[in-house]
Amino acid sequence: MDRIFPIGFFDSGVGGLSVYSRFKSDLPSENTIYFGDLKNMPYGSKTKEELLGFARRILDFMAANKVKAVVIACNTSSATVYDTIKNEYDFKIYPIIQSSAEVIANMNIKRIGVFATLATINSHVYKRELQRYNTNIEVTEIACPNWTSYVEGGKTNSEECIENIKLMMSEMNSYKPEKIILGCTHYPYLLDTLSKFAPTDVFIDPAEIFVEFIKKDLNISGLLNDSKTTGKEQFFVSANPKEFVSNAKLFYEVRELPAIA
Ligand code: DGL
Repeated sequence: MDRIFPIGFFDSGVGGLSVYSRFKSDLPSENTIYFGDLKNMPYGSKTKEELLGFARRILDFMAANKVKAVVIACNTSSATVYDTIKNEYDFKIYPIIQSSAEVIANMNIKRIGVFATLATINSHVYKRELQRYNTNIEVTEIACPNWTSYVEGGKTNSEECIENIKLMMSEMNSYKPEKIILGCTHYPYLLDTLSKFAPTDVFIDPAEIFVEFIKKDLNISGLLNDSKTTGKEQFFVSANPKEFVSNAKLFYEVRELPAIA
């Protein structure tokens, strides 16, 4: 494994860019390959077998592109397939939930809420991982089956989306959580609307903690790219490249139309 090899990122769509954008601003010299699986989104309503198939196809693609590591910038894949595939490849694989849970669990929070996709909530991996590091933390997990599609459909400001967020927030607030984890990488795209129903600092976007974790681990493993030049970026999607570029805007400006792979 060479430190100049690229790092792969994947998600069902633009969600993973909420992680990727932080990564690129912290580590601009890394070479990167981002894959958005738009053909198969939303992941949240898929079975574990389907999600395993999608993840293996993307990881095989990353392997063919000689990556030094892959970032699972997707909570749903981290929750459902990471445990199965973690030893199948000869590069490092970083899952968002398992890599950020320890820091969140130690934030001295007694009651925490998690908004995530149906597949993530059904796996209870957030609860498992948070309670692994803090047995006293009370975790309320609520699935938001429509939110990814509002983001991918460019409908974050629609009346339907705002009404749905209002409904989910009123359910979540009834549990009186001190903090709420945005447990899907698409949800930071909804933060403006979410902040109408709770103060912005109530929401935890695990991306920042996750990027810190990756940075430290790459460093310890001797895999940080310390070149002074800006890294090469490559974007791929399995469908709808134009929609990808347009929906990405809030988090990242993708300058060229991604190739289909
Ligand atoms: N953004 C992904 C996640 O973090 C997947 C959302 C979806 O496709 O349903 O879970």
